[in-house]
Amino acid sequence: MGELSKTAAYWVLRVLSFFFCMNETFFAPCPRGLENALATELGLLGAVAPKTSSGGVHFHGELSLAYRVNLESRLASRVLWHITRQPYRNEHDIYTIAYDIDWTRYFTAERTLRIDLAATHSPLTSLTYATLRIKDAVCDRFRAEGLERPFIDKQSPDVRVYAYLSEDEATIYLDTSGEALFKRGYRLHNEEAPLRENLAAGLLTLAGWTPDVPLFDPMCGGGTIAIEAALIAARQAPGLKRSFSFQKLNWFDGPTWQRLKQRARDAVRTAPESPMIFAGDISESAVEHAIACAAHINVADWINFSVADVRHREAPAPAGVWLTNPPYGVRLEDSDILAALYPALGTTLKKHFAGWHAWIFSSDSLLPKLIGLKPERRIPLFNGALDCRLYGFKMVKGSMRRIKPPRPKLPAPALP
Ligand SMILES: C[S@@+](CC[C@H](N)C(=O)[O-])C[C@H]1O[C@@H](n2cnc3c(N)ncnc32)[C@H](O)[C@@H]1O
Repeated sequence: MGELSKTAAYWVLRVLSFFFCMNETFFAPCPRGLENALATELGLLGAVAPKTSSGGVHFHGELSLAYRVNLESRLASRVLWHITRQPYRNEHDIYTIAYDIDWTRYFTAERTLRIDLAATHSPLTSLTYATLRIKDAVCDRFRAEGLERPFIDKQSPDVRVYAYLSEDEATIYLDTSGEALFKRGYRLHNEEAPLRENLAAGLLTLAGWTPDVPLFDPMCGGGTIAIEAALIAARQAPGLKRSFSFQKLNWFDGPTWQRLKQRARDAVRTAPESPMIFAGDISESAVEHAIACAAHINVADWINFSVADVRHREAPAPAGVWLTNPPYGVRLEDSDILAALYPALGTTLKKHFAGWHAWIFSSDSLLPKLIGLKPERRIPLFNGALDCRLYGFKMVKGSMRRIKPPRPKLPAPALP
């Protein structure tokens, strides 16, 4: 071999080892509107070259980075491990792309399996059929290797394969998370319309809240915003109480995982004597439930809970961040109640919360206007498919311009 080809071979090997040993590619989906915040968070967790796209962030790193992101990310919904991306035209191509993957490298035949598929502008007529073809390809590949085929379990599979079809490309991922990451393991049952946990953490990030500043959620429901804030203040990794799909994959490295978990446990701080996170609700049962959830994830001591009508609230500190997700209309009869509540909210903020920064998260474009205060910020966000806004109001004593509330003529009710 000539000197030149030796050098070329060396560099090919270097590049291959870089790509195959160290540089895996991942995609972390998140609630739409949180992509930039997630990219920043992933960078802090050690992700290489995080790059946003609609509904998530692509990034690179070693496999152990996926462990860390699953354990510590407050904003990601999942961590998907990129396996392949290929052009396709029909279901047969999809089958071949999935069959060509050596699945036995990733998991054993004893693992149960689920396939999920999403598509935008795909020319295929039946996505269900395409999903079945991927399932067949994975099972056929196991049989071709002389092994049993894995069983399908749609409820609680060990391994989830995700396929994403664009107009002409199929991307196949292995899900390293399992249950979505917003399922932190502290929700005991659902109170009225709880926020997803990663969305609540995202609202705190967008509101610019930091643990040295008092926080108040006067309509806390199941307590999601306050509990997420307490987890941040306590430096408690949100995934400490749950397990993940990567633990079922062949390449799972137990000692590395135990090291990461121990480091996360060591980082946890104890609560101060006077907590600065305040939360409450008019419903006693909602507050009881929120306290139970907070206790379940060991942050009850970080939150000062109380039962009260928001209209009678006074500020618990001279300044801070008020962040809340008020009720919104699902039935027509809700309209009158809400049309009365929102102006009263504005009055309470104006009378008792001068010096505070108030943030209201709502899917209703009319109701925030009823509050009678001019929002300084309107941040678009999605709660699932629901188009929402995070409205920011700076409460300055005496200088807030009061907007005359529009007549309470409300549109068709929104979804919870
Ligand atoms: C959309 S839910 C909040 C959900 C909460 N963010 C969560 O993640 O669980 C609205 C909450 O406002 C509360 N609420 C309604 N009217 C209220 C009032 N006048 N004062 C205080 N809380 C009120 C309801 O009891 C309900 O729990």
